[in-house]
Amino acid sequence: MKISVVGLGYVGAVTAVCLADDGHEVFGIDLDQSKVDLLTRGQAPIIEEGLQELTARAAASGRLSFGNQVDDRVAVCDLIFVCVGTPSAPNGAQSLVAVERVAEELGKALRNAPGFPVIVIRSTVPPGTTDTLIRPILERASGRKVNEGFGLCFQPEFLREGSSVRDYYNPPFTIVGAQSERPIQVVRQLFAKLPADFIATSTPNAEMVKLACNAFHAVKVSFANEIGRLGRVLGVDGREVMDLVCRDKSLNISTAYLRPGFAYGGSCLPKDLRALLHLAKRNDVDLPMMLGVGTSNSLHIEHAATLVKAHGSRKVGMIGLSFKPGTDDLRESPLVTLAEHLIGKGYQLRIYDPAVSLARLMGANKRYIEQTIPHLGEILTDLPQVCEHGEVIVVGFKSPEVTAALARARTPRSYVVDLAGIDSRESPAGAVREHYAGICW
Ligand SMILES: NC(=O)c1ccc[n+]([C@@H]2O[C@H](COP(=O)([O-])OP(=O)(O)OC[C@H]3O[C@@H](n4cnc5c(N)ncnc54)[C@H](O)[C@@H]3O)[C@@H](O)[C@H]2O)c1
Repeated sequence: MKISVVGLGYVGAVTAVCLADDGHEVFGIDLDQSKVDLLTRGQAPIIEEGLQELTARAAASGRLSFGNQVDDRVAVCDLIFVCVGTPSAPNGAQSLVAVERVAEELGKALRNAPGFPVIVIRSTVPPGTTDTLIRPILERASGRKVNEGFGLCFQPEFLREGSSVRDYYNPPFTIVGAQSERPIQVVRQLFAKLPADFIATSTPNAEMVKLACNAFHAVKVSFANEIGRLGRVLGVDGREVMDLVCRDKSLNISTAYLRPGFAYGGSCLPKDLRALLHLAKRNDVDLPMMLGVGTSNSLHIEHAATLVKAHGSRKVGMIGLSFKPGTDDLRESPLVTLAEHLIGKGYQLRIYDPAVSLARLMGANKRYIEQTIPHLGEILTDLPQVCEHGEVIVVGFKSPEVTAALARARTPRSYVVDLAGIDSRESPAGAVREHYAGICW
């Protein structure tokens, strides 16, 4: 294919050189003449393992050429990768100045050009940027419509500096966000030989995945470092501790707990996190990330209360009460906290939880619920009654029984506050969605 790469920094230089090495005809563009000169001479502009050899080979092949501005050569390409920088502005926002400028230049270049290039945004940008900022600039400057005169998609780049050539050929996955099929097919064909899953999604989802991945990596580093800092003062080898933590592939290094839903609770997580923070405080170790976890969790319960209140009705049905399905442990259950808050504000609650029977509660569990919701016996009922009563229904866990009951419910104007993910794509929530005035979470 004929491919242009705009922006020849870490991402663009590696992309251009690897694509040329793969046999494509590549035209690279950068405002920085010194990068253009180096690459033209077959020299890598950055220090990256293996890049110098690849650059020299690609330059010698004659498939690689460079310029310092977008021109007619770009407009005849099948694909145009945009890899310009999106550095932080003083307020933390990503500066989109370079992306906007390139969109303007590409649009102008496309105005009178033949062909139907697919423009692939690889710069990291906030969700919505490709569709609501870049697309209008391209359409105005080119006088063409997306999907008629050009294709447009977002493909996040996952390479890491230091191992970027290896990462380019071994990405964790290839993700493309697009509104239409053609750009997806073109990118799929281009990267078909990579040993990675190819996933098509919406453009904002793809944009968000990149930010989420980097935030997750930063959280992982900080988590390990906070364990290490605390371990040191306690005489514990934090590195060995984290090695052991990472050996649990079922709960720790896995997809467990990594799905947006409701707050955590129960008799262990809140208690042991508090204990860890207490140890840190007693030993003058600051653990701001761990400290923020409890705050984040409380905010999430407040958020659920806000969603319930937003619908105006005081008749609330709650499905689930214990801290997770299949247990009757109510201690520090976030659903109990939510119920307690709503009851305190005068909401009329009916609650269903198949695992919770007042007669069977005992010990600390019984004492806890007697203190938080003393009249639980009067509001604990069965599933049909909860659905009948609630004009707002809080769904705390999902099961086929719950989905079926919601789809049969009497009050079709009701709202569902979905804390359990019943509205996810893989669950049979279509009937629920049709039956209710809205599902929010
Ligand atoms: N560096 C990484 O490891 C990495 C990994 C994944 C994604 N990203 C993202 O990819 C994007 C590029 O990152 P980078 O590290 O390669 O940036 P970089 O700063 O190294 O390179 C950006 C290049 O774009 C050029 N440029 C700016 N405006 C231009 C224009 N109008 N026309 C032509 N060239 C122009 C600059 O001269 C520069 O050479 C960023 O959004 C970044 O967040 C970076």
